[in-house]
Amino acid sequence: MFTRKLKDAPQGFTFDDFLMVPSESTVEPKNVKTRTRISRNLDINIPIISSAMDTVTESEMAIAMAQDGGLGVIHRNMTVSEQVEEVKKVKASGDLTIRDVITTTPDASIAEANQLMDEEGVNGLPVVKDRKVIGIISRRDILPIVNSDADSKVEEVMTERVVTIEESTTPEEALDIAYENKVERLPVVKDDEIVGIVTIKDILERKKYPSASRDDDGRFMVAAATGPFDLERAIALDKAGADVIAVDVAHAHKPDIVSFARKMNKEISADLIVGNIATREAAEALISAEVDGLKVGIGPGSICTTRIIAGVGVPQLTAVSSVADVAHDVGVPVVADGGLRYSGDLAKAIGVGADTVMVGSLVAGTHEAPGDVVIMNGRKYKQYRGMGSLGAMTGGSGAGTDRYFQEVKGPMKHAKLVPEGVEGVVPHKGKVGEILFQLIGGLKASMGYSGASTIKEMQERARFIRITASGVAESHPHDLLITNESPNYPTTRLM
Ligand code: XMP
Repeated sequence: MFTRKLKDAPQGFTFDDFLMVPSESTVEPKNVKTRTRISRNLDINIPIISSAMDTVTESEMAIAMAQDGGLGVIHRNMTVSEQVEEVKKVKASGDLTIRDVITTTPDASIAEANQLMDEEGVNGLPVVKDRKVIGIISRRDILPIVNSDADSKVEEVMTERVVTIEESTTPEEALDIAYENKVERLPVVKDDEIVGIVTIKDILERKKYPSASRDDDGRFMVAAATGPFDLERAIALDKAGADVIAVDVAHAHKPDIVSFARKMNKEISADLIVGNIATREAAEALISAEVDGLKVGIGPGSICTTRIIAGVGVPQLTAVSSVADVAHDVGVPVVADGGLRYSGDLAKAIGVGADTVMVGSLVAGTHEAPGDVVIMNGRKYKQYRGMGSLGAMTGGSGAGTDRYFQEVKGPMKHAKLVPEGVEGVVPHKGKVGEILFQLIGGLKASMGYSGASTIKEMQERARFIRITASGVAESHPHDLLITNESPNYPTTRLM
């Protein structure tokens, strides 16, 4: 019986065990489409999601990911209200309409209006009486008289002809209206009352990100993590506008988690992605609970020690392909979470059925990742740690503990935890947009070699060849000393 366990054991494979075979192709990398499904009801323009980790994704990272067409998952190692605030920050930053608009009144003095503009860092103020816009005043109107006529009333100087727009006005229409009327600000009104303001500066800024991930109201999309039984958090995040709620747990193939996922999904309007899993049986269980997406990865992450500490895991390409086999048949998208080091790994994950990948270490250390830059031996680094590391489990709201089914009791909490992750640093890498550009560039090249012009075609057309350790050695640069660091092939690998 016991020898059979080993004899019958299947083989598991990961990124370095395979290459993709080039196919006849008429596809130019520059023409491929990388739009993909993140969950049953949502699409994004690039198949990359940033990890729900406290050294990876807070609002700054989520905004940068959404700007470039990806998605950030706000981590949950913070209180519910803090996490809600992070979600709101992402939503507000991608919203063309500034909703908490700063206004003044007709009887305010010029000096007061000037001071308000200084304090709030704005250059113009709608003038409001009984919530109705009756004028607009800009810094340009005030500057010539701010010293000589400081006590004059706003109503004496304001422009009375105010051009307003409705909430339904599109950015393009707003831009046309602003140009035609030679104004820089357009108050947004509903039933004649002011509800916000749109500025030309913000419209032009928005045009810089044509592929951004946006919700139906034009705001940035954002995801947020919750614990497997944390319904209160999930509902609060949903109310705050999160587009996706990601149940974030080390082992989601448990009957109580599966049945709770079904309940949670009914209580929220966001799509629900659940993970992590690594087998076909786990996928079947969660699909039967009608979740909107599956997240795959037990132990492939750069900071994970689950496979060493628990001796459990499935090499990532095998795990992703096993889940995708089941999920694709029923139209449930798959996230390949963890273990990616190069753009080629992203392409391979999609080739075995992933719809998106989740990355931690690849985007940790960037400008947008939380944490300070530290200098060691003259080089710049940023902290990167596993959510099951001692530091993450005992820091923040302690969310790492329930991710790994552990309880914190008493003051000697360190002594009672069994970490499944490590803490370290990664090189400081500049802006995340540059990393995404290289990752997507590599994916597009791969799609060109495979003759795939869409992500779906890549999943269908990618063909794999198994390689040996010598094949891996041959694949990397060899027999030279690299003198110029390449933006997509770090020479300072840390381990
Ligand atoms: P990469 O390889 O992109 O992996 O750095 C990021 C993913 O790793 C998972 N994660 C952990 N897994 N122990 C684990 O076993 C941990 O402490 C840990 N922290 C994060 C997570 O899925 C993440 O997206």
